[in-house]
Amino acid sequence: MIKQTKAESIIKNMSLSEKIGQMTQLPPYIYIHNSEAVVYGTMRNLQLNETQIYTAGSVLGIGSPKEMIELQKKYLDNATHQIPLLFMADIIHGYKTIFPVPIALASSFNPDIARLVARISALEAYTSGIHIVFSPMCDLTRDPRWGRVVEGFGEDVLLTSSMSEAMVEGYTNFQKFGEGSVACCIKHFAGYGACEAGRDYNTVDISRLSLYRDYLPAYKKALDAGADMIMTSFNTLDGVPATINKFLLRDVLRELWLCKAITIADYDALNQVIEHGAAFDQMDAAYKGFKAGLDIEMASSVYMNMLEKHVNNGNIEESALDEVVKRIIDLKIKLGLFDNPYSGANIEKEKQICLSEEHLEASKKAALESVVMLENKQLLPLKGTEKIALIGPYANNRSLIGPWSWMGKDDIHLTLSEVFDKHLVFVSKKSVLSDYTKEEIEEIRSADVVILAIGEDASLSGEAHSRSDISLPNKQEDLYSFARSISKKLVTLIFAGRPLLLNKLSDSDALLYCWFLGSQSSEAIYDLCFGFANPSGKLPMSFPRNVGQIPIYYNHFNTGRPFNKASKNVYLSKYLDVKNEPLYPFGFGLSYCVFHYEDLKLSSYSITSKEKLDISVKITNKNNYRGFEVVQVYIRDYVAEIVRPIKELKKFKKVWFEGFESKVVDFELNIDDLSYLDDSGNSRCENGKFSVMVGTSSIDVLSEDFYFLIN
Ligand code: GLC
Repeated sequence: MIKQTKAESIIKNMSLSEKIGQMTQLPPYIYIHNSEAVVYGTMRNLQLNETQIYTAGSVLGIGSPKEMIELQKKYLDNATHQIPLLFMADIIHGYKTIFPVPIALASSFNPDIARLVARISALEAYTSGIHIVFSPMCDLTRDPRWGRVVEGFGEDVLLTSSMSEAMVEGYTNFQKFGEGSVACCIKHFAGYGACEAGRDYNTVDISRLSLYRDYLPAYKKALDAGADMIMTSFNTLDGVPATINKFLLRDVLRELWLCKAITIADYDALNQVIEHGAAFDQMDAAYKGFKAGLDIEMASSVYMNMLEKHVNNGNIEESALDEVVKRIIDLKIKLGLFDNPYSGANIEKEKQICLSEEHLEASKKAALESVVMLENKQLLPLKGTEKIALIGPYANNRSLIGPWSWMGKDDIHLTLSEVFDKHLVFVSKKSVLSDYTKEEIEEIRSADVVILAIGEDASLSGEAHSRSDISLPNKQEDLYSFARSISKKLVTLIFAGRPLLLNKLSDSDALLYCWFLGSQSSEAIYDLCFGFANPSGKLPMSFPRNVGQIPIYYNHFNTGRPFNKASKNVYLSKYLDVKNEPLYPFGFGLSYCVFHYEDLKLSSYSITSKEKLDISVKITNKNNYRGFEVVQVYIRDYVAEIVRPIKELKKFKKVWFEGFESKVVDFELNIDDLSYLDDSGNSRCENGKFSVMVGTSSIDVLSEDFYFLIN
């Protein structure tokens, strides 16, 4: 007699409607009508009765530990069973202590920072009673028009995978569930970042080759790191909505990856397959969702209204339902909900640890490593004696923490003008040139340095906030030209959730890309401007010269007619009106240090598949500043059955240098680094000539060729 597991013994006593209830997630205001919880999205009339509501298995978002305790108690008092609710929430870059937005974290090229951010976010979220976070977003993206670029880690597979893995490790505390850790629901599966024209929710039409090579690896890395759930994306893939896409949810997730994570639809996404034209009605949608492998439905009631009919008329076996419910109950057991349904919810502890000095210090540390210095003509760091005029819409704007901050509050953090205060002779947030009076212009003109703080409003990125034109909004380019024309020296600070068009700004004396840096934005920018810290960020996305270049990314194919400016041949792959290259390339970012690379050495110029290739490079910091350098290693496979990109990032290390310090930095490559995924998701590697490139950005590298022989 095989002993029943705890989940199996619970399921044995559940009614069919109770089982189906576990497969539904509802917003908290269904239970607490004046809930403080911030839940995004319109809620359709779900036509649920009281009994159904008290069978649901999980809740989307919660406003406080007090509310969580109240809701869980009310639920258990009214439910016909004693299976506690799972509480899930969007903790994207912090709970109350807010960290740099994910695209900014990616600029740090430091997975340790991402892990720290997730660790602290989990500690804080845990005190509110949250069990699972809808994070990290593992969607690779090559289109800055897409509003959700802000939530991802950019255009590179390795960077996106490394940051996703690190965040899962941080949230779950390497799966040591219990005090201070939360489980992860990664998202959005799959290929959401490839939405056509960067328009959110739009069609995704990518090759299987690109799906396996570019878009899927980060989800796999995050699942392998211990994510317990995965959320389906709103888009279609191969013409089938991801939410009912059997290829994704069964063939890839269950068969190819042998993954046991729970699948959950995005908000109302199961209902929306009708709108997609992939189901006739809710009855059809319920059947297709279940058959495709969708476990939980979020914020709609297709399963609750229709699944019981499918079981009763024999379309769906109840045993198949039990398999899904077992996954859900097992997770609740793993998270300790049956021992303590209120888990970490603790009103006093939440007050004590959220926004603590230690957590704010960590937020500042992350911010310092997330800023990318794009220009510096010997202006920064400032000496501290300069008379500064601070102008532009971000001069005293408190809204610096970035979108998707959920429980974060803008108004408790300092503005640039408050932090730079003692250095300022003039401050104005006026963003329109004509609003400046003659007297004001003279005050700005007389300053030693003008700091121009401009960019996008936080509301211009995030979900459903795509832009067809990614130039600086509200005529800020005119404001820039004005500041450029009258300032002795000009520092430009850009706040944005995506790459913007910066062609007209590259003649700044200094240009810092600040993204949205969270709770310590102003303090971090101050330290970087005055040299108390040294910029070390590198671009996680290529910055286009115009929208016409999009999609633009560094790891592209060579084509049969690669552009060569030395060639007289007209018939080459190029534009008539703009260069092929981005304005600022992937992996680019300046430091106050000057790093010189030399002596790239390989352990051999020919290796077999059983051998590894040791690489070393000598890097010297040519001045007295101290700081980090992100050393990047790219490879190129010159010839393969499926053509390979002209370069692919395969390793990176963030290395500290003291003034005038030299270091030999080493890396190791093996067959895994030289392999690629084909259009069936199989890993392949072929004999031939490779190049290894090591440098400070994707275009500034030392390179050596070597041969790889499969034996
Ligand atoms: C939203 C987002 C998703 C989020 C979910 C719950 O529509 O697409 O990222 O986690 O709903 O809020």
